[in-house]
Amino acid sequence: HMKGAIFDLDGVIVDTAKYHYLAWKALANRLGFEFTEAHNERLKGVSRVESLRILLEIGGIEVDEQTFNEMAESKNKEYVASIAKLQPEEILPGAKAYLQQLRSQGVKIALGSASKNAEFILSKLEIADLFDAVIDGNKVSKAKPDPEVFVSASVALGLDPKDCVVFEDAEAGVQAGKAAGSKVVGIGSPEILREADLVIAGLAELAG
Ligand code: BG6
Ligand code: MG
Repeated sequence: HMKGAIFDLDGVIVDTAKYHYLAWKALANRLGFEFTEAHNERLKGVSRVESLRILLEIGGIEVDEQTFNEMAESKNKEYVASIAKLQPEEILPGAKAYLQQLRSQGVKIALGSASKNAEFILSKLEIADLFDAVIDGNKVSKAKPDPEVFVSASVALGLDPKDCVVFEDAEAGVQAGKAAGSKVVGIGSPEILREADLVIAGLAELAG
């Protein structure tokens, strides 16, 4: 029985995953290498710093700490410029309806995201008030697949992780949810989200 629902943000509630990808791809191209959607799967759900580490590994590039920090900052600047234009209409189909439905059933709702831009995105989408707790990249120290973000979100809801269902589009996020002891609904491709308890194409399948 689900007492709490914990939602990833990027790729689950809103398609910001594409803006992350475009900003990382632009950085890779500036550095002189291609960055494909297959490469990008490794970055989904992963923190900004860890994402850059993986990207540079793919490009076979080594940089000093200052350059690393500048690169992370320039990617974020480009990303924030694209999400600054986000509209409430860009909430993924069914996501808002499903959140409202769960609330009306008395299910507690948390956000469990690696992003440091999560509060900004929720405010742009005008859905911050639908969450009882927000655990984001500013509040966790260990990135997915570590379960920290989902354990913290359960605690913030006053619940045991095993009474919570995690909704995730990233392989690292599915692993984090399972490691926390929650049931996990994968959103996307069953080939990529193999460890999820159930895989759906989008929250529209559950709303209504
Ligand atoms: C996750 C995304 O939600 O947040 C990752 O799936 C991203 O792709 C991570 O790297 C960190 O986001 P931000 O906004 O703090 O750079
Ligand atoms: Mg995601």
